[in-house]
Amino acid sequence: MSDKPTIREHWSGAWGFILAAAGSAIGLGNIWKFPYITGENGGGAFVLVYLLCIAVIGAPVMICEFALGRHTQRNPVGAFQALSPKTSVLAHLVGIGVLLAGLFLLLFGSWGWSVLLIALGLLIFRYGWTLVGVMGVTAGFTILSFYSVVAGWTIGYIWKAATNQLNFANVAMAKEHFDHFILHPGWAIGCHFLFMLLCVLIVYKGVRSGIERWSKILMPVLFLIILVLIVRSLTLPGAMAGVRFYLTPDFSKINANSVLIALGHAFFSLSLGMGAMITYGSYISREENLFSATLSVVGLDTLIALMAGLAIFPAVFAQGFGPDAGPGLVFQVLPTVFHQIPFGAFWAFLFFLLLMIAALTSGISLLEVVTAYFVDERGWARHRAAVAFGLAIFLLGSLCAISVADWSRLEGLQAVLLKIFGTTKASFFDTMDNLSSNWFLPLGGLFIALFTGWIWGTKHALDEIRHGSSNFGDVHLFSLLAGLKDDPSHNSRIHVVTLASLWGIFIRFISPVAVLIAFLHTVGWLDLRP
Ligand code: PHE
Repeated sequence: MSDKPTIREHWSGAWGFILAAAGSAIGLGNIWKFPYITGENGGGAFVLVYLLCIAVIGAPVMICEFALGRHTQRNPVGAFQALSPKTSVLAHLVGIGVLLAGLFLLLFGSWGWSVLLIALGLLIFRYGWTLVGVMGVTAGFTILSFYSVVAGWTIGYIWKAATNQLNFANVAMAKEHFDHFILHPGWAIGCHFLFMLLCVLIVYKGVRSGIERWSKILMPVLFLIILVLIVRSLTLPGAMAGVRFYLTPDFSKINANSVLIALGHAFFSLSLGMGAMITYGSYISREENLFSATLSVVGLDTLIALMAGLAIFPAVFAQGFGPDAGPGLVFQVLPTVFHQIPFGAFWAFLFFLLLMIAALTSGISLLEVVTAYFVDERGWARHRAAVAFGLAIFLLGSLCAISVADWSRLEGLQAVLLKIFGTTKASFFDTMDNLSSNWFLPLGGLFIALFTGWIWGTKHALDEIRHGSSNFGDVHLFSLLAGLKDDPSHNSRIHVVTLASLWGIFIRFISPVAVLIAFLHTVGWLDLRP
């Protein structure tokens, strides 16, 4: 097809880009998941561990993604393709490892896994690092398929709040209502469709007049709503118990497991590991400061996650509920809490609107990864790609929507999967979630760090980051921290400890090792439990 655009669209400026990227990062992960995993893992202590993971692993990997995207001006597949060497020893080693694992499994008769691994090994030989980009685009499909289902529930709950249907006397009633709602195929698929439609409409409009424009409108609204909810929550009698729980660290609850949960969540929450930030980075112009943009995005994402906790826990405690309700915290406990306070339906409406807005700006970034790939690499028109893949993801997501709890509606598919792989997850929804969150994102993050650190090289990446942010590479870190960066005697040309050198060490050694350990632990190949 010859409708390939010749000039790449760019963000109109730093703010447009930062708000779009923050919009991608801030999502269900911050408002739905962060509060409940914090609730389950010891409150304030978990928050501290999470902050450490963000600073030490999240931010360095995010800079890599922005640099990869801006340098190549391409989607994840194109970016890896452009920078991959002809042959890479590391890629070959991984390919051999996967191939051998496949052959080994053949001995044990797990032919499904074996064929899969052998095929993957051969693909790694043929395509090398480009497969990391392919995995990112695939993750765009799988994540959005289940993400959009949960986002759809928020639309349903906005409607229910607006029509005053969330009148639950207790959590058991709220749970029954919720279970009934998500298992109702009409509601589940209908709301999921509406959400995908919104994503398609925005991505269809393009980078500036679609994604950037809507991020600029929606992100301030999101901020305002969360502020209002915090004020409401904190002014309830008894709210301080929730604040105390949230801010007082209980280190006895922290173990290897919670550290790894924090690390995995840092990736999901910052939209790392699947190329969303490579894609958004590819629309940045050379003058922007990648380092300060990263700080802003990471800062905003963390701020909103912390604020979500402050909006939720004080209200939950004030009404006498516990913090460890798990995934049902937001859809079951909160509506019950709101019902007990004056103008409850209004607060519930605001809360679910907040959740929907957060999900929407993340959903568009997931769809954009897929769209950008087909526009850049396959020459599709944006309009066509957005609609076609929005529809494809809607169909895949419909399978998630009807199989949230178990396989009862997809028994045929389950039988096939069981036959091939010998095991399945609890539901199709869980399969997509597990595949994306436990496999694609950590492996993607691992390979993005390794690629930047060892293949493209921190030197080349730094040259890219330097455009628009010379401080990053040249200012002595100690002088910077001491407030002496402009002092002539602290500006020698030979710098040892700069932000860049610290970043390089993280990217080459610390991030890959940490992510690898977290990955092995979550897939069950490494047991760190006491
Ligand atoms: N960061 C989003 C959230 O917190 C989810 C997401 C993951 C979006 C990966 C894009 C890519 O909900």
